[in-house]
Formats: sequence, structure tokens, C-alpha cells
Amino acid sequence: MELSRGVLVTGAGGQLGTALCEQFEAETRVVPLTREEWDVTLPPPPGLPEVDLVLHAAAWTDVDGAEESPQDAAAVNVGGTQHVLELGAPVVLFSTDYVFDGRKGEPYVESDAPSPLATYGRAKLQAEGAAGDDAWIVRTSWLHGWTGTNFVRTMLRLGADGDEVAVVDDQRGSPTYVGHLAAAVRELVDLPRGLWHLSSGGDCTWADFAEAIFEDAELECRVRRVETAELGRPAPRPAYSVLQSERADAPVLPHWRDGLRACLQRLAG
Ligand SMILES: NC(=O)c1ccc[n+]([C@@H]2O[C@H](COP(=O)([O-])OP(=O)(O)OC[C@H]3O[C@@H](n4cnc5c(N)ncnc54)[C@H](OP(=O)(O)O)[C@@H]3O)[C@@H](O)[C@H]2O)c1
Repeated sequence: MELSRGVLVTGAGGQLGTALCEQFEAETRVVPLTREEWDVTLPPPPGLPEVDLVLHAAAWTDVDGAEESPQDAAAVNVGGTQHVLELGAPVVLFSTDYVFDGRKGEPYVESDAPSPLATYGRAKLQAEGAAGDDAWIVRTSWLHGWTGTNFVRTMLRLGADGDEVAVVDDQRGSPTYVGHLAAAVRELVDLPRGLWHLSSGGDCTWADFAEAIFEDAELECRVRRVETAELGRPAPRPAYSVLQSERADAPVLPHWRDGLRACLQRLAG
């Protein structure tokens, strides 16, 4: 797509927002807006420049916190999406594997019926509805990158401080590196709008992922495999939320192990 007038990124301070800014800055002018510059629960601030594309990466991403504050989560995820649409430019909305209940037991494709288990997934599904057929809706999963708080950075900290960490082994998904996702989004905006599943190749449990992090980072830390129920977290999560695209022309992301290596390299600086 023609991007000569530039790209606006909401949630530009988040881990995906950061990667999207970097990806698109290589090609065009990027207008990065952090929460301080535009709180998306409010209408667009005056004076924003006209752009060819909006990458809407701002979101309420605290899955457990959404159970306690469902209205606040909806104000950001649903209300925020409605405000972004007011800009009148084509929009890429980011959604989640948590729109599925995990009972399918094999990869979820775009035509599978969503059935979220918790408030966060319900709000993201409503956001998809608000974005409508005119947006690219990108469902992705288990994001990690070189900024913010994410599983890779948490494990690196815990693995450096201790010799054992308890990690759940009964949730399976596809860890996805934001750098790889951002490159796939650049490909995607040359393809038709609509619903797309974009996650890394392969799948694993959180415990497998933690072991891979320790192995690749050469940290001597054991993973104690536990069940989700032991952690007593407020929001239920799908036991299986691997995403796959059934669309022949869907951008293909590298395997999650390659994504992990790329993330660790970036973190090593
Ligand atoms: N993280 C995952 O594993 C995952 C998985 C699947 C899908 N997704 C989706 O991918 C997208 C990007 O997620 P991410 O991992 O990059 O999340 P993130 O690192 O938490 O970034 C989200 C950004 O949105 C900002 N934000 C929150 N409320 C806002 C508001 N009212 N107005 C403007 N900005 C606001 C946050 O700012 P503050 O830091 O100031 O709060 C943060 O910079 C989201 O749509 C998320 O639902 C994420």
C-alpha cells in the first residue's frame, strides 16, 4: 500500500508499538503516540496529521486486571478502537488468541467461532466487532520483545536470581516475537482487509518456553512444571490457543524458537 503520507501508531510506548514504529520508520514518516500523547479512551486530539494507515497497538493488556475493572478494560479496548476509527484512515487492530476457549485442541483458524473465557478476551472480541470489515484485524499470541514487561524478560530476571522457577505446563500457544510480527504486518497491509491470524510457527507450553529461554540464555535455572490451577489467577486462560491462518496468502512468521533467539540477541544489544 502507498504510505507516502505516513503511519500513525497508537500505544507507541508498548512492546508491539515500539516494534511497529521501527519497522515502518524504515519506509515512511511515523507518528508515534504514547498514552500521554493520546489516551484512546478520549476522542482523537486536535491537530493530528493525515496519514495513510493507523496501527492501533494501544490496549488494556492486563488479563487478570480486566476481571476487576471490566469497564476500564472495555473503555480502552472497545471505546479506544471506536475513537481510532474516527480518524477515517485504514486501521490495523491487534487482537488475541484469548478470544478462543481452548477446547478445540488443534490450531484455531480464522473461520473458527470465538468463545472467550474471560473479560479481556470478551473486550478484544468486541473491539474486533467495532473495527468491522474495513479493518485488518490481526489475532496474535504470547507477544515478547525487547521493551516493557513480558515473559522472556521476566524469566531472564528470575533465572538470573534463582535456581528454580514454577511455570505452567497446561497452556499451549505460540510465543511471537514483536519484530517478526511487525515485519508480517508490513506485508499484510498489501493484502485485503479482514481477519488474519498471525503468530509464530510451532507451539509450546509456557514451561517449554521458559526452558528454551534458559537454554538459549545459558542460565542455570530449573523449570518446575505446574498446573494453572495452582497459581489461582483471577482470569481463566485457554488451555490451547495455537493460531494458524487458513488464508493461502497469509504472511508466514518464523518459528517461535527463531523469534526467541532474535529477541535475546536484541536484548543483548
Ligand atoms: N502481550 C501479549 O501477549 C498479546 C497477545 C495477543 C495480543 N496482544 C495484543 O497486541 C497489542 C499490543 O500488545 P502489547 O503486548 O504491545 O501490549 P503493551 O506492551 O501492554 O502495550 C500496550 C500499550 O497501550 C498503552 N495504553 C494502555 N491504555 C491506553 C490508553 N487508554 N490510551 C493509550 N494507550 C494506552 C500502554 O501504555 P501504558 O504502558 O502507559 O499503560 C502500552 O504502551 C494489544 O492489542 C494486545 O491486546 C498482546
